[in-house]
Amino acid sequence: MELKELSTGAHRVLRKNWKGGFTIPTTKLYPFQWNWDSGFISLGLSHFNLDQAIQEIQSLFSGQWENGMVPHIIFHSENEKTYFPNHDFRNSNVNNGAPQKPKTSGITQPAVIGFVLENLLGRFPDDEKLQVFISEIFPKVVNSHRFFYTYRDPEREGLTYIFHPWESGRDNSPIWDESMNRIQVKEGDIPSYQRRDTSIANLDERPTSYQYDRYVYLLTLGKKYRYDGRAIFEESPFLIQDTLMNAVLIRSNQSLIRIGERFRFDTGEIKDWQQQAKSRFAEKLWNEDLETYVGFDLRAKKQILHKEIGGLTALFAEVPNETKAKSLNKYLTDLHDRGYYLCPSFDVDSPLFDSKRYWRGPIWPQMNWMIYHGLKKYGFEDTANIVKSDLVELVSNLGFYEYFESQKSLAAQLSTGYGGGDFSWTAACIQDLITT
Ligand code: GLC
Repeated sequence: MELKELSTGAHRVLRKNWKGGFTIPTTKLYPFQWNWDSGFISLGLSHFNLDQAIQEIQSLFSGQWENGMVPHIIFHSENEKTYFPNHDFRNSNVNNGAPQKPKTSGITQPAVIGFVLENLLGRFPDDEKLQVFISEIFPKVVNSHRFFYTYRDPEREGLTYIFHPWESGRDNSPIWDESMNRIQVKEGDIPSYQRRDTSIANLDERPTSYQYDRYVYLLTLGKKYRYDGRAIFEESPFLIQDTLMNAVLIRSNQSLIRIGERFRFDTGEIKDWQQQAKSRFAEKLWNEDLETYVGFDLRAKKQILHKEIGGLTALFAEVPNETKAKSLNKYLTDLHDRGYYLCPSFDVDSPLFDSKRYWRGPIWPQMNWMIYHGLKKYGFEDTANIVKSDLVELVSNLGFYEYFESQKSLAAQLSTGYGGGDFSWTAACIQDLITT
């Protein structure tokens, strides 16, 4: 597909999913506003309409909690019944600081807004409306980072934890398997529920029901403890310092520092977080045998020993030194030489690799966007260009899907991508990658 045609397609998808003030990821499967999706969507929208890009972020922050948390879903419409778990199941108002309207979920997602704002400002440095918006939103974004360091880092290490795989944005990645298997779901532990996703998307592309029971278990636990506080840290069987979650937070801290300096805001607190976070990430999450960064399971008190896409986002956070960055780059060039599209979401050599099932192997557009920019920071131009052109090729051949087959030989036999179609962040990331 010609780049112009791709851009027209991206615009069409973003227009289709724009609900007047915010954008849904895709119809049916995800009919509300999702946190980190919105960040990438805002980038995409800014190429067509900066006002909408601003509104996208304002709508997201209309759901911010008093404790600073930006929830992972904002349920702008309360009557939409096609999604589970809906706002009534999550009952986030058990926490007094959750807004009554809009209803929200009680967990969060990667903190992308800091770097999104910097990107917008870099492209529209003199736009007055954008400057006013950034001065207004800046303290709220800082507050959302403060949430992580206050509520999700009780030992004051500089690394934030997640207590639900959905917070990481990588729902059913095999990196959670061992920790999830530790959860014994007994009769009566979780309420009965009916999944909606499996009647919309293919069963073999979605998480299993064994996994779903555990997702519901952890949501129920969060609800029991009003979604914050020490009790979750003490009781949750799932408690992980994730690579991607922390890398994105670090990258956004850096952006907030630079924005703050330009607007003469106080950045002292952010600089303190950043210094500690970067050094702790570098020492605690690196694994020398695997030559990558890995998450840390706080319950089992050990690293999670798998190679997967989150480790590569350390490049985007500018955490690795040159030697470590080189190993990450080599990992990618080897995969390319072996006939994989970049970047598979999980270790292709592991028995747990599944090139079709969601976060267990396929290619995800927003991950390519971050890794592309990470590689460029370190001067790995050739690999960065492969990461970009692989995504362009997949979308051109297979459409604006949620995620894609990672094995080239298999992808060549397909006529579509996987998961939801006309997907907003796919459109947004493509548009941004082909125009900047
Ligand atoms: C899935 C993805 C998550 C994304 C959401 C909406 O749950 O795993 O990262 O935010 O869909 O697109």
